Amino acid sequence: MLLLGIETSCDDTATAVVRDGVRVLANVSTNQDEFHAKYGGIVPEIASRRHAALLSAAVDDALTRAGLTLAGVDGIAVTAGPGLIGSLVVGVATAKALAFATGLPLYAVNHLHGHLFAPFLERDEPPVYPFLALLVSGGHSQLVEVRSPTSLRIIGKTRDDAAGEAYDKTARLLDLPFPGGPALEALARDGDPKAIAFPRHRPDPGTLDMSFSGLKTSVRYYLESEAGRNARRADVAASFQAAVVDVLIDRTTRALDANRAPTARTESDDRVCGTYRALVLSGGVAANGALQSAFLALGASRGIPTFLPERRFCTDNAAMIAAAADRRGEAARVDAATLVADPNLPFA
Ligand code: KG4
Ligand code: ZN
Repeated sequence: MLLLGIETSCDDTATAVVRDGVRVLANVSTNQDEFHAKYGGIVPEIASRRHAALLSAAVDDALTRAGLTLAGVDGIAVTAGPGLIGSLVVGVATAKALAFATGLPLYAVNHLHGHLFAPFLERDEPPVYPFLALLVSGGHSQLVEVRSPTSLRIIGKTRDDAAGEAYDKTARLLDLPFPGGPALEALARDGDPKAIAFPRHRPDPGTLDMSFSGLKTSVRYYLESEAGRNARRADVAASFQAAVVDVLIDRTTRALDANRAPTARTESDDRVCGTYRALVLSGGVAANGALQSAFLALGASRGIPTFLPERRFCTDNAAMIAAAADRRGEAARVDAATLVADPNLPFA
């Protein structure tokens, strides 16, 4: 199946053409960073106006790069939520118009499902179900048990900031340019991750939840202290990054180990579904080299096949939306007459 993908949930105007949820014939993304940078964060009104200005041309661009016209694709996949309402509406309205005009089937995709299927792109041997995914982006941080493309369950999540949000806010404290995640990672490369012992959130017993807002606050207090004023910024960045990675790896390790416990092995046990057959990292923060290394090391230590998306499929893109629609098939099929963008679209 050849799908046109459209993703406009936040600030990337993205379109793609994907064959069978795997082969990427075109992947176009227009980044709006220059319009938001001076505000230090994404301004929703600017984001939706940019999407409205760019999306039609971005659809044409993806089709042209794939050597196709709309008549050559089998369906249209669009992000229906969660995200910024104005941004989502531009993508959803465009996809509905194209579906009405052509009669092509329309598929609605949850943005987070898109991230979970990004590691399937351009891979001959994809992750085997059930797999455990750590999904870390600017808006979400969660551990997801994926039993099949249509059976997904969140088993742990952040109680406050998402990991990417913590990167962005801490980058601002360090006067780094927007977007903060990649800039902080670059600065951390010259720093000592053991220089400052920032706190690591410990979960309540029996949960796999995480928290990053205390860490961000502790970086702020440190920078305001005498020691902090004299500290190397690279050391602060590296020590912050080490704390984030430790928490994410700790929670993923606990999820893997809980899954191996004898009491959790039966199918009837609703808490866990049996031993995971793959480990998957996804979302914008999955582009982080320190997290990637620690995640691969965890997978190797547990002997579980471990998957990272290609870097271009970590941050928001439309290829992952087409991939998720392809995997979910009929479960994602919607009526163009009734589809509405939902900024709070439930996960499953
Ligand atoms: O998935 P994504 O593109 O958008 C959301 O769905 O939120 O993720 C964007 C987030 C931002 O917070 C950004 O700072 C973070 O991913 N990010 C990174 C890196 N690249 C992007 N964080 C840490 N290190 C990176 N290299
Ligand atoms: Zn995203």
